[in-house]
Amino acid sequence: MRIEVAAATLELIRGDITRQATDAIVNAANSALRGGGGVDGAIHRAGGPAIMEESRRIGRCPTGQAVITTAGDLPARKVIHTVGPRWRGGDSGEPALLAGAYRRSLQLAVDNGLSSVAFPSISTGAYGYPVEEAARVALRTVAQFLEQNPGSLELVRFVLFTQDDLCIYEQTLRDMAAQ
Ligand code: APR
Repeated sequence: MRIEVAAATLELIRGDITRQATDAIVNAANSALRGGGGVDGAIHRAGGPAIMEESRRIGRCPTGQAVITTAGDLPARKVIHTVGPRWRGGDSGEPALLAGAYRRSLQLAVDNGLSSVAFPSISTGAYGYPVEEAARVALRTVAQFLEQNPGSLELVRFVLFTQDDLCIYEQTLRDMAAQ
């Protein structure tokens, strides 16, 4: 599924984030930038040690913020590492932190002259954020960024790992487009 937002394309596909040949792919990292499982593990495995070497030099990334490194052996040019919030029931600022993770990632792409970005579903794996609620925050934040920064990016792609997640993101986008 794809829609146009302020001359940019917002696309939802099922797939593997490490296979995306967009200018940047986004990693669902932790604050210590020390790697992990899920998306993080897949990116470091497929991209090779150069990504971790640069992450070590950067040091840390607070929740809701983003940093950028080489993409090593991956088809993308850069990896943007962002840290989504752990789900603690929804009253601990999770939506604002998750929106921040998306917004800061997009801004970092623009600041580095990149025009296409692929995101996984941040925080909805190990960090336990309910996917329906995360999808609303993710899609609203990206659409708002594209509307507020016309011409800044050409493509934002969400790469969902499971068919269930893809269906939830698609339904959320349809509901948003109908409003
Ligand atoms: N491509 C796309 N999506 C993937 C991939 C992949 N190769 N592998 C996993 N996913 C999906 C998961 O199914 C989940 O829906 O990405 C989503 C995010 O899950 P996590 O990777 O667990 O990310 P998150 O919930 O943000 O947790 C981050 O996990 O790996 C650690 O170091 C990481 O501590 C950090 C935490």
